[in-house]
Amino acid sequence: MTRPPNTGPVTLVTGGSSGIGAAVVRRLHTDGHRLAATYHRHGERAAALTADLDAHHTSLAFWPADLADPDVPARLVQQALTRYGRLDHVVHCAATIDTTPIEQTTSSSFDAVMRTNVTSAFLLLRAAADQPTLRSTVTISSIAATFTGPDSAAYEASKAALSMLTRTMAAAYAPRVRINALAPGAVETERSLADPGFPRAMLRQRIPLGRLATPADIAATAAVLLGPDSSYITGQVLIVDGGLSLKLT
Ligand SMILES: NC(=O)c1ccc[n+]([C@@H]2O[C@H](COP(=O)([O-])OP(=O)(O)OC[C@H]3O[C@@H](n4cnc5c(N)ncnc54)[C@H](OP(=O)(O)O)[C@@H]3O)[C@@H](O)[C@H]2O)c1
Repeated sequence: MTRPPNTGPVTLVTGGSSGIGAAVVRRLHTDGHRLAATYHRHGERAAALTADLDAHHTSLAFWPADLADPDVPARLVQQALTRYGRLDHVVHCAATIDTTPIEQTTSSSFDAVMRTNVTSAFLLLRAAADQPTLRSTVTISSIAATFTGPDSAAYEASKAALSMLTRTMAAAYAPRVRINALAPGAVETERSLADPGFPRAMLRQRIPLGRLATPADIAATAAVLLGPDSSYITGQVLIVDGGLSLKLT
């Protein structure tokens, strides 16, 4: 869609520096959104993405953010307002993907996962919904909210909590704001590509659609859930897994 410059919707994307978040930034930039995005440790990836998409920094700003810090979500909303004067959408992709074995998971490491993956979502959606311009949000849950895997108790619990949070917040902020989540299955990201133990071949065999998701597949679904074509959908956790979960039940 072509819009006059500086009139596109303003969208805050957390975890925009890599994987699914980076694909969301790419997709929404192409769709004409003005973007406020965050990174945590990989500022160089955020800089490379900005150089690629928006070398003049007119419609894409990247800021460092540690979402384990409960002061950060409200601050990000304020930063987006200062930069663009309004906030229309949030896509919350950031998460810590913790695979510590249960025996070695401490109370504080469990809490850190919950703070980063769940408390941040609660605080971010609430602060964003305080803005009268907010229209829709998407959080990224996972099929790990429903199906267990090895060594990811805190991560799985955090994704299950995020899915329920989506429903609760959607009911609270309807009809003004639509709040939905995506639950990806196996996605081919920089992280999985760099992991020699990632069971790609086994997954490909088990996924009915015959391939892993690309980050762009997930970003395309996020774009639909943000936009007017899903105007009657709220409080849903949409599984985007090529049918993988059909084989896990
Ligand atoms: N990949 C999959 O197969 C899959 C499947 C289901 C669900 N998901 C979900 O999809 C989302 C994105 O996953 P991904 O695979 O794209 O992961 P990723 O490539 O590892 O990206 C994670 C993002 O979160 C940021 N982040 C990590 N810790 C943070 C913190 N404490 N504060 C703020 N930001 C933080 C990272 O920033 P830096 O890189 O700058 O540190 C990065 O931008 C996550 O919610 C994940 O649970 C992924």
